[in-house]
Amino acid sequence: MYKTKLRTHTCGELNIGNIGEDIILAGWVKRKRDHGEIVFIDLRDRYGITQIIIEEHQKLLKEKLRDVRSEYVVQVYGTVRKRPEEMMNKNMFTGKIEVVAKNVSVLNKSEVPPFEIKDNINIQEDLKLKYRYLDLRRDELKNNIIIRHKIIQSIREFLSSNDFLEIETPVLTRNTPEGARDYLVPSRIHKGKFYSMAQSPQLYKQLLMIAGFDRYYQIARCFRDEDMRSDRQPEFTQIDIEMSFVDEEDIFIMTECLMRKVFKDVIDVELEIPFERLTYKTAMESYGTDKPDLRFGCKIKNITSIVKNAEFKVFMQSEYTFGYNVGENLSRKQVESYNLIAKKYGLPGVFNAKLENGELKGSFVKYLTQENIKRVIEVFSMKNNDTIFIASGAWKRTLEGLGACRKQTGLDYYVKSNKDFRFLWVTNYPLFEWNSGDNKWEPCHHIFTMPRDEDIEYIDKDPGRVHGKLYDLICNGIEISSGSIRAFRRDIQEKIMNVIGLSNEDAEKRFGFLIEGLKYGAPPHGGIAPGLDRLIMIILGKDNIRDVIAFPKSLQASGIMEESPSWVEVDRLKELGLKLIDEKKDF
Ligand code: AMO
Repeated sequence: MYKTKLRTHTCGELNIGNIGEDIILAGWVKRKRDHGEIVFIDLRDRYGITQIIIEEHQKLLKEKLRDVRSEYVVQVYGTVRKRPEEMMNKNMFTGKIEVVAKNVSVLNKSEVPPFEIKDNINIQEDLKLKYRYLDLRRDELKNNIIIRHKIIQSIREFLSSNDFLEIETPVLTRNTPEGARDYLVPSRIHKGKFYSMAQSPQLYKQLLMIAGFDRYYQIARCFRDEDMRSDRQPEFTQIDIEMSFVDEEDIFIMTECLMRKVFKDVIDVELEIPFERLTYKTAMESYGTDKPDLRFGCKIKNITSIVKNAEFKVFMQSEYTFGYNVGENLSRKQVESYNLIAKKYGLPGVFNAKLENGELKGSFVKYLTQENIKRVIEVFSMKNNDTIFIASGAWKRTLEGLGACRKQTGLDYYVKSNKDFRFLWVTNYPLFEWNSGDNKWEPCHHIFTMPRDEDIEYIDKDPGRVHGKLYDLICNGIEISSGSIRAFRRDIQEKIMNVIGLSNEDAEKRFGFLIEGLKYGAPPHGGIAPGLDRLIMIILGKDNIRDVIAFPKSLQASGIMEESPSWVEVDRLKELGLKLIDEKKDF
């Protein structure tokens, strides 16, 4: 690092090679140990910790430093010296040396912090969020932010060297089609009108393709007003990418190479490419989800044909019966906990059976013939004491219920390490989903997705059979990215809008500028948008998205430190032409 006026080195760089040098360090007092004769200071900065020693004869200096406590900011002028052998800390880069202080200046005092700055402290998250700048001094959080930077650098290197241009697009815009609720910003100049905060740069990146910038990317801030989860934030970051003259394969290869470089650069892991691929249908029928965690098996099997004719009403009357083998001997209590999960997912529950001394035991077994019992044991590859779960009903609900149970099985028995990275493309999604509540077709991803070539003729005749050039990238059960090849032709775009009941007028109102753009020579194009925060979570093995963001929002979508959102003065509201319904809640 280049020298600055206040320091010659950082606290993480001095070693045996510097012995005898006069240096200046500056940083925070991590710990001061006063042994009477000698005083030690562990001096900390972003780069590491260096031990400072104030020797016996430095009486005036010791007196000057009497009140210095943890988190004071000090500058140390001294000489690097080898530590006595028995005092060496071989695990630390700076652990073989110490700096003998000639002078120490206090650059700034610190109040006693509300919590100790060290890893693995058990304090309320809200307190940590309120003093985030102190929490960020902790090694663990600090390192997450440093890794985040490295990941972004690696991404930029890859994309820039492959001719992608980094282009910024507006954040203040109008509704984009990602389907979440927008954050709205009232306009002062156009009273009564609102900007929407961009949910993603989707429409702009398509317009950039029309403009001829055939390879675009942006480390883009996105804003969505949706319910929080451990992998969701109201403002988050996407590695937003779009390319012209491509088909699905090109996007897959580019993304795989990008992921391979990032994992190699940042954590020295060699990802095997190409990634595995499953169609949406196979993913659902094998794992009960389109975000399967492939770190363990327990595949779901379709046993409809085996049990359909059993003298058991549930099997007979249900369209489908699926099940999976937990591969473990579950107690009654454990079985009950799985029942609760299935119920949460709208199933009446799950049947269970166990193989005991070669005999299948379970409430439904009596309805099966010997031959079918044998087939069930075979299909699930059951060993003695294995427990299977079975559920019957409609395709999606049954699979999703079992998928949720399977996920729990993974957590309970199989997934020990999140450093094992199992990537997978899920492809061939239906283009439309039937919303039985509203009695209408809805787009599965967004309305700008291209149908598969062979399905184009069915868009208006039979929307349910149309599949889209639409893909998700999953890693360890988490959706990292979605993307699609876009419906770049106006005639196809119009048919899609007709299916979902969006009139030309409505479309004009909402996305008129894109629809207009599509008239002027739009090239075939498509893209993808890996969620940067989720990617970092996966690389670092974190379960909580807040651990990888410098200033995240709390679970209630609040900025605890800056107290956002906040009330505003009545005058500000007036200026914007707004009035709160509940007057008492004004500023
Ligand atoms: P999508 O809406 O699927 O696609 O988002 C892409 C990826 O962004 C991440 N993500 C989030 N991360 C944290 N918090 C959130 N609230 C959140 N919402 C989404 C996920 C997700 O896979 N414009 C399209 C992409 C495209 O078609 O190119 C889009 O935004 O990792």
